[in-house]
Amino acid sequence: MKANDTERVTRETRSDSFQQDALLAASPEMRYNESVERFRRTEYPNMDRGVYLDHGGATIYAKSLVTDFSDEMVTNLWGNPHSENLPAKLSGDMVDRIRVRALEFLGADPRHYDLVFAANATAAIKIVAESFRDLADRTVSKTFWYGYHSEVHSSILGIRELSVGSYHCFDNDSRVEQWLADPRGAVVNNADSNKLGLFAYPGQSNLSGRRLPRSWTGSVRRNSQLRNTYTLFDAAALAMTTSLSPLFSDLNTAPDFTCLSFYKIFGFPDLGALIVRRSSGHVLNLRKYFGGGTIAQVFPLNGDSHSSRKVPGLGDAESTWDIHDGLEDGTLPFHSILALGVAIKTHSRLYGSMEFISRHCSYLSRYLYSGLASLKYPNGSPLVEIYVDDPVVFGDPSRQGATIAFNVKNKEGYYVPWTSIESMANDAGVYIRAGGVCCPGGVLRALKYEGWEWSRMFSSGHSCGRNEIAVINGKPTGVVRASLGPMTTKADVHALLQFLHNTFTVSEDSLDSNNPSGCRYADDICGRSHCLEARQPTQPLICQPEEVSLGGGEGPG
Ligand SMILES: Cc1ncc(COP(=O)(O)O)c(C=O)c1O
Repeated sequence: MKANDTERVTRETRSDSFQQDALLAASPEMRYNESVERFRRTEYPNMDRGVYLDHGGATIYAKSLVTDFSDEMVTNLWGNPHSENLPAKLSGDMVDRIRVRALEFLGADPRHYDLVFAANATAAIKIVAESFRDLADRTVSKTFWYGYHSEVHSSILGIRELSVGSYHCFDNDSRVEQWLADPRGAVVNNADSNKLGLFAYPGQSNLSGRRLPRSWTGSVRRNSQLRNTYTLFDAAALAMTTSLSPLFSDLNTAPDFTCLSFYKIFGFPDLGALIVRRSSGHVLNLRKYFGGGTIAQVFPLNGDSHSSRKVPGLGDAESTWDIHDGLEDGTLPFHSILALGVAIKTHSRLYGSMEFISRHCSYLSRYLYSGLASLKYPNGSPLVEIYVDDPVVFGDPSRQGATIAFNVKNKEGYYVPWTSIESMANDAGVYIRAGGVCCPGGVLRALKYEGWEWSRMFSSGHSCGRNEIAVINGKPTGVVRASLGPMTTKADVHALLQFLHNTFTVSEDSLDSNNPSGCRYADDICGRSHCLEARQPTQPLICQPEEVSLGGGEGPG
């Protein structure tokens, strides 16, 4: 063996063992939660109605959450918490208790954080946006600067509408890092970095599941040139399968404002929240009064339009208002808040803690990734193109959530329209999401679109609705997204892999005309032969994840 060969072999061996080591090092973060198998049937009977893999849209609620909630509803007399009678007091006390319990569940110390109930994450975002608009109205320029990362959900993008054109989109992570290193530099071209500002980004891309650095919120606060810039952290996708405790544990690095939707964590109730770092809460105080409940006094007749808002620190000694008092318009969704209390209790009884969920979902997402990457046509070409920067991230919860975005290709390498994949999967009883998934910047990044291509797409009549054009000039306009939740099982993941395998890689040649049973046989992805009835509601054919190569597969195509 020549010296060069020896060197190459050694290098390859090192790199193999490095990959193995990397996988093993990541493995404490990955553990399948066997107990899900035990309670899945009883707690989630409705999940027998198909294979549900759209937890990024909404996860599924447990049966006992619904029955316990209904018991609470029928055994107690709940009144509007704005009144003073006993049923009202019962509701008011319950709301106070659950507000604190929800903060504790999220790992946010109630002494340092307040929780504002909102209809959903979008409504929470809107509270921040309106507050900045109304505060900016008092500044000389009458605007606030708004910076956001390109991979935001369209709800975060919407804040742009209130910034009167004073905004900047950061194309990628390194642009954010450059800005943080030099706020007056060329990146955003903003000479006045001390202007009132808001920087928003998601903890996790709702399109690809990529987790973005949490450190940016602390970097903004530490930066003396950004002393009037606040941070809005969108935790809607992140909070589904991971604990937010590390985000809130250090007050110096915590976001000023964090939005989320509880139905994405518990399945029910349909409720969201804005978590406000108390020492940043004053920025929201000047939001204009709109709904009842948020004001202490208002003159109702012509002439004097004065209103006095509920501002923390004002009021008599006993009932000093809190941050949330000035931000929750109208009657609180108190029945939903009651359900939230039950949801938190049920969730911790079934799952223990978010750490268990994180390990379970990391394990399954690695399993799904490896299974997808190993799907090949008989001619060797890959069936799917997965949108991930580096395959090693699957299994590393600091970098990747339990969401995978991909597109399907035919054996000639042409994209199969994502619209077709969604409807074929639907017919097979496999429920995934497809399209732009409300994350236009994520589509741009995944599919490496340039701005002009995006504009061409719009001009060709593409819209985010039904009957979209799924492939333009050979390039997809969206993705297929599979997202997992705490109660997802190996069988669910396997069913998606099996559906893709059965639908695309099983050739008609496998039809055995001499077969008296009329069965169409094909090998499954574990190499076992099965009688197929493609396009029937998928009966998961379970193979162990070990049978699907965990290390295999390439990165994005
Ligand atoms: C990352 C992210 N942000 C915001 C939202 C908006 O949440 P909602 O529709 O509950 O307001 C979503 C919803 O999918 C999301 O995934």
